[in-house]
Amino acid sequence: MDIKTFLILGGYGNVGRVLTRLLLQETNVRLVLAGRNLEKAKAAADQFNNLFEGNRVTGMYADASDLENLRQVFKGVDFVVVASSTAKFTKEIATTALEAGCDYMDIHFGPKIYATLHSLAEAIKNAKRCFITGGGFHPGLPAATIRYAGQYFDSMEKAIVGSVMNVNFREYEISESTRIEFVEEVADFQPFFYKNGEWRKINMMSTKDYILMDFGNEFGKQKCAPMFFEELREIPVIFPTLNQTGFYMAGFNWFVDYFVFPFIFISLKLFPKVSIKPMSHLMQWSLSTFSKPPYGLVLKLEASGEQDGRAKHVEIQLSHKDGTYFTAIPVVACLLQYLDGSIEKPGLWLQANIVEPNRFMQDMKRMGIDVKVQEKSGNGR
Ligand SMILES: NC(=O)c1ccc[n+]([C@@H]2O[C@H](COP(=O)([O-])OP(=O)(O)OC[C@H]3O[C@@H](n4cnc5c(N)ncnc54)[C@H](OP(=O)(O)O)[C@@H]3O)[C@@H](O)[C@H]2O)c1
Repeated sequence: MDIKTFLILGGYGNVGRVLTRLLLQETNVRLVLAGRNLEKAKAAADQFNNLFEGNRVTGMYADASDLENLRQVFKGVDFVVVASSTAKFTKEIATTALEAGCDYMDIHFGPKIYATLHSLAEAIKNAKRCFITGGGFHPGLPAATIRYAGQYFDSMEKAIVGSVMNVNFREYEISESTRIEFVEEVADFQPFFYKNGEWRKINMMSTKDYILMDFGNEFGKQKCAPMFFEELREIPVIFPTLNQTGFYMAGFNWFVDYFVFPFIFISLKLFPKVSIKPMSHLMQWSLSTFSKPPYGLVLKLEASGEQDGRAKHVEIQLSHKDGTYFTAIPVVACLLQYLDGSIEKPGLWLQANIVEPNRFMQDMKRMGIDVKVQEKSGNGR
């Protein structure tokens, strides 16, 4: 059988390492771990070769800001996984992957990345390459979970996804590029939700468009703000009976929510270039200092509608204690479908919308995500 070579940009980063472990565990691919620190890349490859048989991992120097280097690095590679904080080099990475004849998947967030890749969509299709963007958990899971919930209804009227993410940031060594990218992404979020046939922007002067979601024992009830992801755009088209949908995110901690976020928004509006580094330090410090246990990540869907002429309510809760696993497991579950050919088709796709949702859920469960589904008759109250 043809054994593919996958290159993971950022392969020795926090998410990259978990992706490597899971790909070695779940597939037969060969892996190249790449980043700007050759020693770290080689050390990580050695570590994984000691843990898994077959000497399947190598480490390599790669810098996404250097086009010539990318051309060299992508030679002989079948698939590029972007797990690096290189959102601003998306065009360079994607065009070089296309030139080299590689398929592609990233775990990026945000409208700019989608717009960049969308501008290449025709070229991707013509080259018969398969590019998947928006991998991971958010984005990556909200629309997939709604699509999964669809099978429980004849007509689904409401499907709201909420998420809480409380990470012990003191445990992770996060590179400066990742911290900067995180602040840029947070400042760039799109506050849209879908109601009565249209996508609406929240009223910025109040919290009336926020929702209150109960995440259960550990996290309890939390106020969540709408956050639009490209994968959601298709949801009301797939389920035309929906009159309410969207993704909503709970806050991080009181200090970040009430002081740091507003300060970052204003600073980045006024002085985008000079304030980005100090703001990324402020964010990292306040997340590390003020986040308190219990730690963990939950994504919960609340859906209602009708089946067999009766009102029905469904709740689906996905959770994991570790954010790197909660990000990497959906990516690998998607790649399993790519590798067996079932979703390998030319074009630009979003993880949440290309996966077959039943198998996706089963594979994520097997790899360690806790999946709970609860069906109730009536409106769930
Ligand atoms: N979709 C989701 O659900 C989700 C969830 C979590 C994180 N993410 C995204 O995942 C990415 C990685 O997060 P993380 O926590 O793993 O961060 P991390 O531990 O800081 O890893 C980032 C990696 O990117 C590499 N890198 C940075 N700049 C590079 C460049 N110019 N060329 C090549 N490699 C470069 C870094 O290595 P060097 O600095 O040594 O080059 C490092 O290996 C971020 O973009 C984050 O936004 C997505």
